[in-house]
Amino acid sequence: ALQRTFSIIKPDATRRNLTGAVTKMLEEAGLRVVASKRIHMTKEQAEGFYGVHRERPFFGDLVSFMMSGPVVVQVLEGEDAVAKNREVMGATNPANAEEGTIRKALAESIEANTVHGSDSLENAKIEIDFFFKPEEIVG
Ligand code: CMP
Repeated sequence: ALQRTFSIIKPDATRRNLTGAVTKMLEEAGLRVVASKRIHMTKEQAEGFYGVHRERPFFGDLVSFMMSGPVVVQVLEGEDAVAKNREVMGATNPANAEEGTIRKALAESIEANTVHGSDSLENAKIEIDFFFKPEEIVG
């Protein structure tokens, strides 16, 4: 089915001028960018967005990293977009990511792993609503 999912191009990627390279790989995987904006996350946004990870040992570092530079938040649309996006991203830890994936090609570490993508359709909706107003999404 036609779905929308939420993606973040993380600070390690914007720092290395890889916004286009990442977006190209997303597009080549069959995903369409229907909303996109470059933002500098506030502490409130980073902590709120990653709220489910609040108790994890890496939470503080993760929040700092996500505020360490600009990010590009995007809404991606396509057939089975949630699964398609997760496939092209590759494993969270780039050391475990498959050949041909964004994280295998570009990620620096498990923290500086270049992209975020929603892990379910339910979370995709929550994450899209966290960063975008309906009128900012143009399908
Ligand atoms: P993301 O898909 O954005 O969701 C949570 C993020 O936490 C994850 O990608 C990683 O960038 C980051 N992270 C840092 N350390 C770890 C870890 N040990 N396990 C899982 N995620 C981690």
